[in-house]
Amino acid sequence: MTSAIVVRGLVKRYVTRERRGLIRSVKRVVEALRGVSFEVRHGEVVGLLGPNGAGKTTTVKIIATLLLPDEGEAYVEGFDVVRDAKEVRKRIGLLLSVEKGFYGKLTGRENLEYFGALYGIPRSVLRKRVEEVMKLVELDRLGAVDRLYEEYSLGMKARLGLARALLKDPPVLLLDEPTLGLDPPSARRIRSLVKELARQGKAVLYTTHNMFEAEIVCDRVLLINRGVIVAQGTPDELKARIPSMRTIRVYLRGATPRDVERIAGAVGLKPSVENDEEGFTVLKFMVRRPEEVLDDIVKGVSSAGYEIARLRIDEPTLEDVFLYFASR
Ligand SMILES: Nc1ncnc2c1ncn2[C@@H]1O[C@H](COP(=O)(O)OP(=O)(O)OP(=O)(O)O)[C@@H](O)[C@H]1O
Ligand SMILES: [Mg+2]
Repeated sequence: MTSAIVVRGLVKRYVTRERRGLIRSVKRVVEALRGVSFEVRHGEVVGLLGPNGAGKTTTVKIIATLLLPDEGEAYVEGFDVVRDAKEVRKRIGLLLSVEKGFYGKLTGRENLEYFGALYGIPRSVLRKRVEEVMKLVELDRLGAVDRLYEEYSLGMKARLGLARALLKDPPVLLLDEPTLGLDPPSARRIRSLVKELARQGKAVLYTTHNMFEAEIVCDRVLLINRGVIVAQGTPDELKARIPSMRTIRVYLRGATPRDVERIAGAVGLKPSVENDEEGFTVLKFMVRRPEEVLDDIVKGVSSAGYEIARLRIDEPTLEDVFLYFASR
């Protein structure tokens, strides 16, 4: 059996003009994809996981026939996305995170009936199918079926987007950040639905920048960074590739970038830095032997004039795996 999605050596360059002052602009080439290859089989959810600008949406759009690649090729159930675009479109359900293109003055149901007709779904079955997919994404339970789209909440819009992707009952689903901006219950509903659809045999390509989400939804994960897939495997396999690494997290109250640099200098290791929701600056060191650097960390922090508010040593998470591979 052929793979549902086959992608080989995709390269995509965007040519943009950058403003320099009022009149002058310079041409700039962005290499969004630099040789991306992977496959997705029926019955699995494959996550394309990477930070903003990594190339996730570009990859999805090429497979969805909305963008032409500069190099490389992609196939959906054996059909070439460039030469057999029409056949490809018959087989995919697409959900783009931003551009949804629904009509504000139509209800959710009317929107789906409109798109269903556009997709060539026969009138005789369309009404029932619309009813089914709205139920599947629980828009009926939210009382949103016959409300105007412009009155929809973010979660309702996301659900309608997924409902539209499912209208044709396509064997291949391309979902670009389907849970972006949703509250936990809505996100959970969409995740469990996606898993269920894969269990029924659909092939799902699922993009996200959320490591936690990738770990719970995806059977396999492709880590993408700056247009390159830096590692792939099941979440467990990926973690097993850096088994002896430990993550030391040092929580400080509001450290400036300069102080972070001083601490890093004192320790002799470059941490990744993030601000968490509780207002801590978190320095993350990945090391093989925590006991060998803890002393330096404590000294470095205090010489920079800070106190350690919290300290944690953990086994690597998918996020750590990403940082590890992305930094090499
Ligand atoms: N239409 C465009 N013109 C120029 N550059 C573009 C265009 N679309 C995307 N890019 C650039 O291509 C790169 C990849 O973008 P892409 O949208 O595929 O990333 P992404 O992984 O989906 O990011 P995000 O998580 O922010 O959605 C980025 O550097 C982006 O700025
Ligand atoms: Mg994107």
